[in-house]
This record gives sequence, C-alpha cells and structure tokens, in this order.
Amino acid sequence: MKYDLNNLTLEEKIELLTGADNWRTSSSNGKLRQVFMSDGPNGLRMQNADGSTKKATAMPNLSVVAQTWDEELAYLDGETIANDCIDNGADVLLAPGVNVKRTPLNGRNFEYLSEDPYLAGVMARAYIRGVQSKGVGTSLKHYCANNREVYRFTQTSEVDERALHEIYLKPFEIATQAEPWTVMCSYNPVNGVYASENRKLLKDTLRDKFGYKGLIVSDWGAVHEPYKSLRATLDLCMPHNGDYAQNVKTALENGYISMKDIDFCVQNVLNLIETVENAEKTVNYTKEERHANALKIAEGGMVLLKNEDEILPLKDGKKYLVAGYLAKNPLLGGGGSAFVQTDYPVSPLCDLLKDAMPDSDFEFSSVPVQAWEMPNELDLQRAKYNYLIAREKDAVILYVGDPNESECYDRSSIRLHPGYERLIKEVARYNENVIVLLNVGSAVDMSEWIDDVKAVLLVGYAGEAINEAAAAILSGKTNPSGKLAETFPLCLEDTYTGDEVGDGFVEWYSDGVFVGYRHYDRYGIDVLFPFGYGLSYSKFKYDNLKIEKKGDAEYEVSYDITNVSDTDGAEVSQIYVKDIFSMVVRPEKELRAFNKSVIKAGETKRITVKLGYDAFAYYSTVYDAWHVENGPFEIWVGASSADIRLKGTVEVELPDDGQQSQI
Ligand code: BGC
Repeated sequence: MKYDLNNLTLEEKIELLTGADNWRTSSSNGKLRQVFMSDGPNGLRMQNADGSTKKATAMPNLSVVAQTWDEELAYLDGETIANDCIDNGADVLLAPGVNVKRTPLNGRNFEYLSEDPYLAGVMARAYIRGVQSKGVGTSLKHYCANNREVYRFTQTSEVDERALHEIYLKPFEIATQAEPWTVMCSYNPVNGVYASENRKLLKDTLRDKFGYKGLIVSDWGAVHEPYKSLRATLDLCMPHNGDYAQNVKTALENGYISMKDIDFCVQNVLNLIETVENAEKTVNYTKEERHANALKIAEGGMVLLKNEDEILPLKDGKKYLVAGYLAKNPLLGGGGSAFVQTDYPVSPLCDLLKDAMPDSDFEFSSVPVQAWEMPNELDLQRAKYNYLIAREKDAVILYVGDPNESECYDRSSIRLHPGYERLIKEVARYNENVIVLLNVGSAVDMSEWIDDVKAVLLVGYAGEAINEAAAAILSGKTNPSGKLAETFPLCLEDTYTGDEVGDGFVEWYSDGVFVGYRHYDRYGIDVLFPFGYGLSYSKFKYDNLKIEKKGDAEYEVSYDITNVSDTDGAEVSQIYVKDIFSMVVRPEKELRAFNKSVIKAGETKRITVKLGYDAFAYYSTVYDAWHVENGPFEIWVGASSADIRLKGTVEVELPDDGQQSQI
C-alpha cells in the first residue's frame, strides 16, 4: 500500500514520530500498520507481556561472528535471526552494532564486531543483507562514537574529523551499502551535541554523504529535546515519549521548525511502514536448522590462541579432566538488551567429548563452584580433592570466563577474576597439561597464567551451540579457523586509554586514528595476541604475490596459499596497505581486504582480492573529502597483522581530478 502524508492531520503526523509504546510505531488513529521492533544482535530478544523474554535461537555474539572473518557466515547469522523474528512478529531487528572497539573495557564489546572499521563494516553489511533477505528490517547502531558504557548518556565523545571518518563512521559508511531499513543514533553527544540532535552527523553525513535513504531512530530514550532531534532529521523517537507532541507543536508555532521538517520525517516513517508491508517474509530454516547454523558460526568463530606441543586436538586413549562450572553452564552471551533466552538444552562439554571420543576417558568436576565468587572453606576443600584428580589425568580442560560483560556497565579490569587466575595456576601445579577454554566477550590480559598452560581456546560468547563447537574443535572434528578481530594487549596499561574513562562530561579521543593495532604499531608496543591472529591444526605457506593494475587506483592482488600439513583447514589471509610517504600522519598499515578459504591438506589455492580507491585514501580535513596522495604504497599480505608473509609495491598515479572523493 502507498501512503500519502496529506491524508494525515498534523496531530496524526506528530504522533507518528514517536512510538506508540516501547516497541511499536503509532497507528495514527488506526490509519497505519504498526511496525514492531525488537532486539538484538545475537538473536531475537522480545519481551512477553509479563516482562519475561521469548525463547529464541541464541546465536554467537557479534564478537564471535567477526572472528569468523567470513561474510557468508555473517549473512547466515542474519538470515537465521530473521527467521526467529518472523515467527514472533518482529518487523525490524535492532541490530547490528558496529561501534569500533576503542577500549577492551567497553562492557558491550561482545555485541560489536571489531577494532578495525573495515572488518566491522564488511561483516555488518553481510549480516544486514542476511536479515533483510528474509523480509525483516535491521537497525544499524549506535551512530556514533559510542565506545563505552560508563557515562553513555552524558559524556561527549570529542573526536577530530579525521578519526571520526576513518575510524568511527567508516563501519557505518560501509554497512549502509546494504541499505538497512533503519539506523539507530547513540545516546552520547558527539563533539558537544547529542547524537540524536546532531544534524551534521545525521543529515550532512549519514544522509547526504553516505546516501542513506532509510529511517533514523533514536536509541531508547536518547531524545532530549524532541524538536531539536526532528530538526536534525531524526525521524522516530523511541520508545513512546509523552512530551513529544507538545514540544514539537510549540516549536512549530515558534518557528523553530517548519512543516517541511515534520513532513520529511513523517515521510520516512511512512516509507518504513510501506517497506514492512511490502516485504516478503520468508522463513527458510526449521528450529533444528537454526541451531545447526548457530553451531556452524560458533565453530568458525572460535580462536585457538595457544597450542604448545600440539596438545590439541585431544588424543585418543588418554584421560582428561573437564573442570569448571562453566563447562556445564557456559555463558552463551553478554547481558543487557542483547541477552537472548534460548530453550535449547546446552549439553555439558564433558558429555559431548565422551560422545566425540569414545576411546578416551573424560571425567567432569565443577569444583570450585563459581570461581568468580570467592571460594569458601568447603569449596577449597573440594578444590583440593579436585586437584588430586587433576594429577592423575593426561590433561585438564579448564573452562573459565567472565560473567560480567553487559550493556550499562564497563569492565573494571581486563584480567579474569582473581578466583579464576588462582584456579588456573593451582591446577597447573598439579598437571602440566592445562587447556584453558575462555568464555569471554572481549580481550583478556593473561599475563598471570598464560605461561602455566599449554593451550588456550577462545570460545567466546558463542551462543547455544558453544559446547558443541568447543567439543568439535577440541576433538579435532573441526579445525579451528577463527582469528581475532581485536588485539589482546599484554595489559590494560598498554591500551591507549588505560583505565581512564573521561570525567562524565567529555572524553577526548586524543588517540585520533590510532585505535587498536594502529596504536600498538605506532608506539611499537608488544601485545599478547595481535589483531588477525589465530592458530589452526593446519600449517599454511604463502607465495607468489602478484599485483596487477586494473585501472586508476584499482588493483588485483593474487597469491598462493598452500596447506603444508596433512589436515584440511581454512585460512584467513589479510591484506594491509601501507602508505610509504604521506603529508599527513597515517597508521603503519591498515586492513583493506581479507579472504577466508578452505584449503585441503597439500593443496595450493590461488587467492585473488581487489583493492580500490578506498584502500589508499585518508580523510582530508582540508578538502572535507577522502584523498589519495599519489606515490608508492606497499601491499602486505599477512596471516595476522603481525605476521606479514608477502610484500609488494604499487605506484598510485591518479589524475588531478581523481584524487579527492566526490563526497
Ligand atoms: C540499547 C539499544 C537497544 C535498545 C532497545 C538501548 O538501551 O542501547 O541497543 O536496541 O535499548 O532495547
């Protein structure tokens, strides 16, 4: 159906610009279909009338999805969640979140994709396409520079124009190519003006520069002065705001806004309603298949961080202790609006390992109970008994995690709870073969215990299939292929912001464009595990780099990857570009493309990726546009950001009128 805004009275128009309730748009006196919105990134979170949460497939959190480096899996993730949305009547899914991980303390990092804007943008774009392919809308969030939870309602993110474009806006710019039906503004002010009132961000940048045609919705409660948001072209204020109508009417009477401003936003809401009505909602997965998809993504996104003496995969005929409360009750995801309530019965890891490897012996012990609680005397006694069992085993699989990652709170430390650190060290005193499973949503400082253990598998917050995926990797049925989408620093002090969180009013992003690996590269800071890093049971060799010029600043980069092991595997290769000489300060290198390919044992695969204008450009505050400086650039092909295997050089020569972007 096509709606004409002239059929609405002024009251009905204004009514349409704020929610009817928590989740639905208004019907404007029954004239319009209401659009139902629901969280969130890692699966559907929809509330029942009594405030409880509907059951849905708990998918791996976006931090795990990013670690797959696989756009097809991000698409599959989106499709699967859309299926649950359709079953429950949600028209728009309030996801994905693409905020750049500026600090590992951010309590919502598990909901976000990466510290790198390109990786975050590309994965979000695929996810959005997946959701929307099923006739369900998305909400790309939180626009923008919302990089911590502490003071998220008040503290302005003071970001220079270059960093804003290159780091914080870039994922949105890339992801909007998928035409999300909605974009959600963040709570925080950006450069002194609330994101919800920031016309420069909403209109001049999102709509005019990025060409975004959809609806802009506020984060829940992010609107302060309704008419100012309206003037900034924020279309929809969510949830219902009782003061909205009066505030807008008064502003109209006073001439602070015009009828044109109102109609612009009303039209965008009408367009959304039409899109929802015209969408062909298609369910294509059964409940079992949705779970199978969750498993596939979890397997692809777990990262093997350490594997000394090739202790993994586990060997047949050995005796293992599977220890830790979490081995039975893993954390499927983080807390807050991204929390998903599944009814899937998660199997204990020990049982799954027994099934997978009947020729080995697995014994489970949960002691000490929840290590993040300080153990009492009884726990300690039981722990002692447990350590004695550990002594008799060939190896101990120890499941540890952080249950405190959640919206609304930041972490106060990036170390595990002291109870867990002690537990790991104690167990390692009794058994030299400790395999740690890390059930966390963000980077962890492991300095206290990493040298005491043989292996570390980052299982992450991998959703309801977490234990099946972990068992598949531990047993060798699945070869790990995930790589980190964020740096794991040696300690919090090595991060740019350390434990500084701003003063509640202003946080100055004085790190500029030097975020994540760009920071560690610049200052030569050693890290625990670099961006892009992850081990496999296979070994890969890179050769024969060839770079062919295909047009102005267009290149085709190709290289061979050979699996030089006898195990089939998948390898994520990463293409970084380095500007050899620049008139502005630039990062040492920047991720500009990547590829994930399955390569059979002994096989050689030729990988081809394309680099275009964006691979060489920086954001010029002189031209207010992207700019490419002519001259030499190096193209680096790496297995991680710190493991560069191949290097080549190109000489970029753009004509005078081709160096700046048109926007
Ligand atoms: C969160 C959003 C979420 C919304 C609705 C807000 O507090 O920041 O991410 O979509 O609530 O639950």
